Amino acid sequence: MALKIAFIGFGGVGQALAKLLEEKKDQLIDQYDIEPCVVAVSDVMKGSVYNPDGLNINKLLTSIEETGSVENYSDKEGLKIGLTSLETIKETNADVIVEVTFTDVNTGQPAIDHCRTAFECKKSVITTNKGPVALAYKDLAALAKENNVFWGFEGTVMSGTPALRLPITSLAGNEISEITGILNGTTNFMFTEMENGKTYDEALETAQRLGYAEADPTSDVEGYDARYKAVILANYVMKKEIKASDVQCEGMRSITKDMVAEALAENKRWRLITRVKKDGNNVYASVRPEKLDVIHPLANVTGATNAIIYDCDLSGPIMLTGAGAGLVETGYSLLIDLIHLQSEKTIKEGGASE
Ligand code: HSE
Repeated sequence: MALKIAFIGFGGVGQALAKLLEEKKDQLIDQYDIEPCVVAVSDVMKGSVYNPDGLNINKLLTSIEETGSVENYSDKEGLKIGLTSLETIKETNADVIVEVTFTDVNTGQPAIDHCRTAFECKKSVITTNKGPVALAYKDLAALAKENNVFWGFEGTVMSGTPALRLPITSLAGNEISEITGILNGTTNFMFTEMENGKTYDEALETAQRLGYAEADPTSDVEGYDARYKAVILANYVMKKEIKASDVQCEGMRSITKDMVAEALAENKRWRLITRVKKDGNNVYASVRPEKLDVIHPLANVTGATNAIIYDCDLSGPIMLTGAGAGLVETGYSLLIDLIHLQSEKTIKEGGASE
């Protein structure tokens, strides 16, 4: 079944998904009955192209690589150039909007407006932007439901490591009383570097160079990035509505190289720990540096790797660990959402499901 896709934003993550759609096209058709057809791309820096009959992914990527713009796409027949992001959402024939814009996580914009407009136009959205889910989950989820469309955001927590879908699908039927995790790769990488003798500043500089940190690394080191992930876990996995301001948040700035060395001498390790805990009808969430005993499973998570433990009444504690960032990994999280979108569509339309 053809799935017409419009990219809103076409930076590293969007391009990573486009490459995966090309590389995996045989598997997508054979295994999942998905025939992806990219009809539009709209990016504030790289321009905008639309062809209702589909664009060639390799030609799009070549145009960017050679000229920095999609508007130099080589095949001009049937091509419309210059639609804005909102025009692309409203006026193209796309079934699904891949929302991967550069978004301000404090306001959630422009991603929130993109999601809202798409749902009002009865189009599905998949996104890796945390803002819409952390700041407007309830309203946007209701709007998607009202318009009978799909909203996927697997990549917002732990990128392509399925931290959201695993508890909802594979752990279904459990009561999850607490979620504990290392949900920010930058700070975990920094702690690991500091354990190897680097200073805080040297460790941060390396994390930035390797591309782990947010554009403004304050969000990582002050714990704001992990705080938004705590809100998403509370709202989506625990079905408890909280806001970012409800999460007690303390970053890692106060932890020095000496404190890291002292902890190691005591067989302990500092980690930036996110906790979301249910207590009756309430939920408490925090992000703060904790000194863990080396035998604690989270103490042995090193580098930019993330990990999460779900405390389940039936399964007991279940731990998931893997990459929490990276272009291919985050592009893959969008592919997971696309595959689930298609299987939900097939079920709704009464087709076979496996
Ligand atoms: N800056 C984030 C991190 C990227 O270091 O985990 C993924 O949200």
